[in-house]
Amino acid sequence: MKASVPASIVCVAPFIFLLLVLGCSARPLYPLPSRRNDKTKQPLQTFRPYNVAHRGSNGEIPEETAAAYMRAIEEGTDFIETDILASKDGALICFHDVILDDTTDIAEHKKFASRKRTYDVQGLNTTGYFTVDFTLDELKSLRVKQRFSFRDQQYNGKFSIITFEEFISIALDAPRIVGIYPEIKNPVLINQHVKWPGGKKFEDKFVETLVKYGYKGSYLSKHWLKQPAFIQSFAPTSLIYISNQTDLPKIFLIDDVNVPCQDTNQTFAEITSDGYLDFIKEYVVGIGPWKDTLVPVSNNYLQTPNDLVARAHAHDLQVHPYTFRNENLFLHYNYSQDPYLEYDFWINEVGVDGLFTDFTGSLHRYQEWTSPSISDDDASTLLHKIASMVSKYRKT
Ligand SMILES: *[C@@H]1O[C@H](CO)[C@@H](O)[C@H](O)[C@H]1NC(C)=O
Ligand SMILES: *[C@@H]1O[C@H](CO)[C@@H](O)[C@H](O)[C@H]1NC(C)=O
Ligand SMILES: *[C@@H]1O[C@H](CO)[C@@H](O)[C@H](O)[C@H]1NC(C)=O
Ligand SMILES: *[C@@H]1O[C@H](CO)[C@@H](O)[C@H](O)[C@H]1NC(C)=O
Repeated sequence: MKASVPASIVCVAPFIFLLLVLGCSARPLYPLPSRRNDKTKQPLQTFRPYNVAHRGSNGEIPEETAAAYMRAIEEGTDFIETDILASKDGALICFHDVILDDTTDIAEHKKFASRKRTYDVQGLNTTGYFTVDFTLDELKSLRVKQRFSFRDQQYNGKFSIITFEEFISIALDAPRIVGIYPEIKNPVLINQHVKWPGGKKFEDKFVETLVKYGYKGSYLSKHWLKQPAFIQSFAPTSLIYISNQTDLPKIFLIDDVNVPCQDTNQTFAEITSDGYLDFIKEYVVGIGPWKDTLVPVSNNYLQTPNDLVARAHAHDLQVHPYTFRNENLFLHYNYSQDPYLEYDFWINEVGVDGLFTDFTGSLHRYQEWTSPSISDDDASTLLHKIASMVSKYRKT
């Protein structure tokens, strides 16, 4: 009996140390009821790689919908991620594809049948119903559906497309601080098809929206920590263009090795060279590469990782690869069909700084089990337990 008490203290020693650290910086340790301030939200965690909810919890709920984002917040995401496109009348919307065909019920709306078009999208003729040919009201009359047939179909037809502003309000209303991670999506196409008053460009409207809701500040600045945001784009021209409009941190997305850069037409080799990383680091805090370009894959087996992560880190650039998905179909054989093994590999062996995942809940549980955070409530509970253990020990 006696021996067991000091033994449990040994077990919790790291926690006591942590609590002492917390105690010094944030007294009182037990929150006083009179000081309990509900306006103080639990902060963004910054001690482990970021959990980025790719298009919301789209593994469960149709992508880019309010429900998918709220689910991701419940499941513990650090950032909700979205793709910003525009309507014909210039509204900024959350939608991934330039056409509505694969993730909405557009086919059932006979009155829109004549809107089908073919446009050049990054050098490829693409045919379908383009968001840029529909007003916001028309887009709002559509319903979103799940992209993949092997995912839950029960939410098809239940949710509408949301605007960038509606997306922001979901993040700001969250019960804790949740960051946003919006993409300037297909800016070349959008600027070709949509015109705004005063000669404003898509990028101007994008930044104006962020500014309107108070998003500003460099990475980890005091203001940024209150409303964290990363701006992402595959188009370096857009990231450079907005660099003197906002100091929010930016992430340069990098496509597959065969895909030329969507605005500058540079090759993968060019945009991942040391010379280019030197140039782009003046504008961005990190890169967002497709994960198979960092660790090449052959016959569904991982090959030797290349040096891009190491070189990006040497340039003081974060690395946030995409996209992590639970299903066997997406898991390379090395992971034994276990998405946790994939997270373990990328976080502990490759050493990335953030992960875009379709299953935020899985990544959150993995990180809580392997690298837990201690919230104020947990700390209080733990301290209470320790205090009662110590008092028992004193009596004997
Ligand atoms: C796209 O279509 C146009 C008109 O039909 C044609 O002239 C052009 O060559 C096509 N481009 C590609 C890349 O197929
Ligand atoms: C941003 O910087 C560029 C050159 O770096 C300059 O041409 C442009 O006028 C600047 N824009 C604003 C809004 O200051
Ligand atoms: C892009 O670059 C490739 C060579 O890398 C070239 O063949 C192609 O014509 C270029 N496209 C444009 C639109 O400049
Ligand atoms: C993945 O598995 C293959 C086949 O067993 C092996 O050759 C390769 O080294 C493994 N890759 C990694 C990164 O573990």
